[in-house]
Amino acid sequence: MTASVIAGSGSFLPPRSVSNDELAAELATRGVETSDQWIVERTGIRQRHIADRGVGTTDLATAAARAALADAGVAADEVDLIVVATSTPDQVFPSTACAVQANLGTPGGAAFDVQAVCSGFVYALATADALIQAGRARCALVIGAETFSRILDWTDRSTCVLFGDGAGAVVLKAANAPGVLAANLHADGSQGRILYNTGALSYGEATGDPFLRMDGQAVFKLAVNVLSQSAREACEAAGLTLDQVDWMVPHQANVRIIQALGRRLGVPAERVIVTVDQHANTSAASVPLALDAARRDGRLQPGQLVLMQGVGAGFTWGSVLVRL
Ligand code: UT7
Repeated sequence: MTASVIAGSGSFLPPRSVSNDELAAELATRGVETSDQWIVERTGIRQRHIADRGVGTTDLATAAARAALADAGVAADEVDLIVVATSTPDQVFPSTACAVQANLGTPGGAAFDVQAVCSGFVYALATADALIQAGRARCALVIGAETFSRILDWTDRSTCVLFGDGAGAVVLKAANAPGVLAANLHADGSQGRILYNTGALSYGEATGDPFLRMDGQAVFKLAVNVLSQSAREACEAAGLTLDQVDWMVPHQANVRIIQALGRRLGVPAERVIVTVDQHANTSAASVPLALDAARRDGRLQPGQLVLMQGVGAGFTWGSVLVRL
């Protein structure tokens, strides 16, 4: 059976970064009280990137895709599959993946979106790997891209300080040796009410609440539990132990969730990639953004074992274990 390998990665962040102090000052003008101290102590977040009006998820996804193709040394016309993970598409349809394909100017291959919120990239990567293993694709662009700033209630301090915009991508190619060693995907739809956005279009009207709502503490507890189970499951499936994993690249929602996960699994902080301080929570973009940042700064090296993990609304979660 054909395997899949990560041939390159890329990312894109909107140029406008907003520090906690800048955000607190802006929120104060709306009568919303927060502080750099609260945000750093409770989340580890120091800044986030926010896309300007007129810049969409498709723009971020396309820029990340181009960077990943350049890194992999792959021409856009070699790509026969584009999977975009996003919960903040610019439109209902066509999909963001089709819009990215149009921007790249390479019609013909398959292109579709995956909607698994903050688990989206892990879902997309596992899906692309499965299609490559089955012989249905040979060269995939797997992208996580979000503009969560558009669905935040900027008067709700318990959510609006937590998220940012951005995109990350990998090129996943068919190969003889893996590559992707194991993957697991899970969901528990009965937990849908702890993190949701019920906004929708119906009969030509916008209906429901257009903003993200969350029970932060419930999400926190569930995230640590399911991510630790999923990490063990991925290692067992590959016949490896967690000690053999060089790097964990977990979803970047809150540094306290990442630390609790590390403690639960006995993985020291030195082997865990953290970018939530710089990017905040970029939902489906968080894992590929963190992966790309750590490849670029030289922490992640070819041959190393990397465990990527997503968790988010749905409730959804999963892991992909990869040898770089
Ligand atoms: O991708 C998955 C998406 N979501 C997550 O992963 C989020 C998971 N949950 C979390 O990260 C944390 O639960 C939060 C960061 C959301 C909240 O941290 P917490 O330690 O659970 O705080 P809390 O909700 O218990 O709130 C503590 C206090 C409250 O005040 P009182 O009731 O104790 O007086 C809040 O009103 O902090 C207050 N608070 C704030 N204060 C200043 C909540 N947000 C803010 C804020 N600035 N931005």
